[in-house]
Amino acid sequence: MYKINENYQKLPGSYLFSTIAKKVSAFTTANPDKKIIRLGIGDVTQPLAPAVIEAMHQAVDEMGKAETFHGYAPDLGYEFLRKAIAEHDYKSRGCEISADEIFVSDGAKSDSANIQEIFGVENKIAVCDPVYPVYVDSNVMAGRTGEYNPKTETWSKVIYMPCTMENDFVPEFPKETPDMIYLCLPNNPTGTTITKSQLQEWVDYANKVGAIIIYDGAYEAYISEAEVAHSIYECDGAQTCAIELKSFSKNAGFTGVRLGYAVVPKALKCGEVSLHGMWARRHGTKFNGAPYIVQRAGEATYSPEGKAQLKEQVAYYMKNAATIKQGLKEAGYMVFGGVNAPYIWLKTPEKMTSWEFFDYLLEQANVVGTPGSGFGPSGEGYFRLTAFGSYENTLAALERIKKL
Ligand code: MLT
Repeated sequence: MYKINENYQKLPGSYLFSTIAKKVSAFTTANPDKKIIRLGIGDVTQPLAPAVIEAMHQAVDEMGKAETFHGYAPDLGYEFLRKAIAEHDYKSRGCEISADEIFVSDGAKSDSANIQEIFGVENKIAVCDPVYPVYVDSNVMAGRTGEYNPKTETWSKVIYMPCTMENDFVPEFPKETPDMIYLCLPNNPTGTTITKSQLQEWVDYANKVGAIIIYDGAYEAYISEAEVAHSIYECDGAQTCAIELKSFSKNAGFTGVRLGYAVVPKALKCGEVSLHGMWARRHGTKFNGAPYIVQRAGEATYSPEGKAQLKEQVAYYMKNAATIKQGLKEAGYMVFGGVNAPYIWLKTPEKMTSWEFFDYLLEQANVVGTPGSGFGPSGEGYFRLTAFGSYENTLAALERIKKL
């Protein structure tokens, strides 16, 4: 009789956003007349930029002709895209990342879940708490997290680095030395971030203790403050301790298109073993590349028109963020984030738990958000709203919340 991967049995409940979707679906079935406003999952609502659409149309036409047809993409991704990434996301910021250190993928979600595969199962991971649930869940599936304690909602072998209002949402170096450190900056869900000099301290720490940093920069396009780094490679020494993951979902609206990339510097070595070589092996074996049409779309985000159009989109969402933050403050909520990220993190009122507030908001205001505890135990008593809705819906949601 075959055996299953028992680690999956350890996972509590379903994936956070699936649980929310089920709850919302049950509510809408029971209340078909209610108009729900969804500010829960961080999914974009604005259409793709014209420069992106044009590039996709052209690429579709190329696929229709034998002379310009493209089959399997190269292992690491098309050079035109990797060169554009190296130039615009790194060289322009003074970071020495070459095109052949970039691995094009179908998004940062899969990269952030898959990257742990190249590390030993005995490694101890450290995560900010709260944080994007994929990091912990993927390590649970791999058998790296020990036992789950339903009371504390923690895993015995995971090092949690609480990020709460008490420490200004800045993770502190853990007492126990981790092997793998996940940093999502600007952070999902708190919408907060740290300065470049604080990030430098993490890089120095990782190099000192021999840890690897998995740096998720999915929200980089939303950074508005000058002292915040746009890439971990702006920090000295990051090439020997960090892998950076990036996404086109949030800066270019590719949540349904799917495109991302991982940077694995050639200088990154565990003893004599090159992590670049390992990830190349893994990529080559398990992934057949993002579609040509999508990679051309990604390239278009770096053209002068593409850049200008994306800047406008980011500004649109950040106007929503400012509107939510201001509106909630006026309504008496304690609010955080929303300056360098499209997420607003609020303290739930009257000691409500995160899920109690979720139900309250859904039932009384017909607004969907995300309960903070879904992102880790230190998220309890907090709640996340996303700025990715339409401006009209954002205003309408706030009106409803203010009336509660
Ligand atoms: C979120 O809502 O946290 C994100 O949309 C999830 C994701 O990007 O996969």
